Amino acid sequence: MLVVSTEYSQILAANVAKALDCPLGGVRFTRFPDGEHYLRMAAIDREMVIVGSVPHADALVQLLLLIDACEGAENTLVIPYLGYARQDKQVHAGEPLSARAIARALSTGVSRIFSVNVHDRAVLSHFRVPAHDISLAGEIGRYLGSHPLHHPLILAPDDGAASFAGQVAGTCGWETDHLEKTRMSGEEVRMEPKHLEAKDRDVVIVDDIISTGGTLAMAATMLQAQGARSVSSACVHGVLAEGAYVRLLATGIREVVCSDTLERACSRYSAGSAIADGIQGCW
Ligand code: R5P
Repeated sequence: MLVVSTEYSQILAANVAKALDCPLGGVRFTRFPDGEHYLRMAAIDREMVIVGSVPHADALVQLLLLIDACEGAENTLVIPYLGYARQDKQVHAGEPLSARAIARALSTGVSRIFSVNVHDRAVLSHFRVPAHDISLAGEIGRYLGSHPLHHPLILAPDDGAASFAGQVAGTCGWETDHLEKTRMSGEEVRMEPKHLEAKDRDVVIVDDIISTGGTLAMAATMLQAQGARSVSSACVHGVLAEGAYVRLLATGIREVVCSDTLERACSRYSAGSAIADGIQGCW
């Protein structure tokens, strides 16, 4: 078995290979003068694990080329961050169901697929081969547990993320809650934990994705005003669009961390072992 990756998921692929105790396959990536992608694999094995997040179109094209280059092998595809997964509804006539389009394109030439904390597991039904989602709640919980936290409160930014926050909190037996938004007036919205108080506590907001960080910035400001001792944030996918990282720190957030499903300077925990466990569990 050989693990290969696009150039956008190299570090995670190395972590997966290490956890699987199998070699990494080298791939050379270049472009043609017109901008088209080219790649060449150094070797191919009977069983291949192909790792590639899809944060943008270049990553998608590289992943499609890599799958094609592995033609003839038994291919397991790992899509740590599945871009377009939030575009899973047709709001207006004439729109694509983008999540379905991406899932269908990535189903060709592979036997099974693994994603990591996909935004909505319903998206997995669009793949044409068996697809499984892996959760990093344990990894986030263990990371947080390795740091001193005073009377910690693990918060989900909304009701929908409450179960994920509960799993993170469960790793260390911490309390958990979710934020509730109340509209005070036309312009004013208040956010506070639904059941518990943030006062004098180290609060960690956990979510699957930090994209623009808009919700998180508003929540952090309000939690600090409610007397939280500190506010930090931990997510799986650090998209960090539109300068989100700096904007969040500027609100007074103590730390913003993510996994290596998208390789960032603030990637503090790896999805490698959880992915390897998922793959081995399906053998
Ligand atoms: C939404 O349902 C997701 O779980 C995230 O909360 C959302 O994508 C974050 O977006 P942003 O960082 O732009 O507020």
